[in-house]
Amino acid sequence: MEKSDLPKYLQEIEVSEECRELISSLPTEKGWHPGNLYQYQGFWHLSQHLQKILTCQNQFEARDSDIILVTSPKCGTTWLKAMAFALVNRTKFNPKSTQHPLLSNNPQELVPCLEFAFESPKPNGVDSSPLPTPRLFSTHLPLVSMPESVKKSDCSCKIVYLCRNPKDTFVSLFHWEIKLRTEEMRSNLLEETFQNFCRGVSLYGPFWDHALGYWKQSLENPERVLFLRYEEMKEEPGNQLRKLADFIGCPFSKEEESFNVVHQISKLCSFDHLSNLEVNRTGKLSYGYNNSAFFRRGEVGDWKNHLTPQMAQKLDQISKEKWGDSGLTF
Ligand code: A3P
Repeated sequence: MEKSDLPKYLQEIEVSEECRELISSLPTEKGWHPGNLYQYQGFWHLSQHLQKILTCQNQFEARDSDIILVTSPKCGTTWLKAMAFALVNRTKFNPKSTQHPLLSNNPQELVPCLEFAFESPKPNGVDSSPLPTPRLFSTHLPLVSMPESVKKSDCSCKIVYLCRNPKDTFVSLFHWEIKLRTEEMRSNLLEETFQNFCRGVSLYGPFWDHALGYWKQSLENPERVLFLRYEEMKEEPGNQLRKLADFIGCPFSKEEESFNVVHQISKLCSFDHLSNLEVNRTGKLSYGYNNSAFFRRGEVGDWKNHLTPQMAQKLDQISKEKWGDSGLTF
């Protein structure tokens, strides 16, 4: 692939001396995206993301009122962003309004990503102060790599983690990856990406460690970390929305319940509704993706159409080994 053909988020960016030195000292692996992955604080990243992560770690000042949505890639980030945005802004934007921002913007654009917002090494970083309170951010960062201001014990910002069955996550990641490869780079891709995923070598992986970090925090500190599952959101979106609203401190009132606001938000954010909007069928994100790339099937159990029984067994076995008796299961 020509460099100029790469989406903006994959193109090389200006890297500081500090970051260059760090990269040269990190374990590296080929595979997945065009470009090497580097292991930083136990998780795998692209070099162009590392600069942004470092700057975000150095510069992001959390506020107690912040809400941070966390996912591993392909676990339902777009959906969670849509739900949280609609929820937090429901008095400003009626979910039934024909002018609702979700009707003309991909959810990815409405909630800034913590680490991608830092175009570094420029010192100005993200200009997040104009965001209305509560500020809503998303991130794929593992807990260990969160900025110190978020991890501080006296910070009471809210963290919402959305996880997904590892088999469907892998299948979704695989389909995403196909789109980034040229025809010749696609041969043997399923086997290659599967082996890498199982070894933990995937963007922001190991997937299992990423989830376990937040799972443990959600048990130890349930007022700060809410752990949600994609499958439960599919099964009962209304109840999960109520849970989310309670957690972030904007519960549905009796009046809202009687006007069916919960149902209106879940319908507004449903896969069928969002994926069929003109903006999501034909639009493009500023950093280079087609909006349609964030909507594929949106189902639970699609892994059955793509994985051999051996592959499924292997992923189940890793889940058992990695998550053990932590209580985290799918
Ligand atoms: P599939 O590839 O299994 O279809 P992310 O937003 O983290 O990139 O995750 C993308 C996955 O979430 C894709 O899964 C996509 O189809 C699914 N998805 C996107 N919007 C959704 C929605 N509103 N409801 C349910 N799933 C959604």
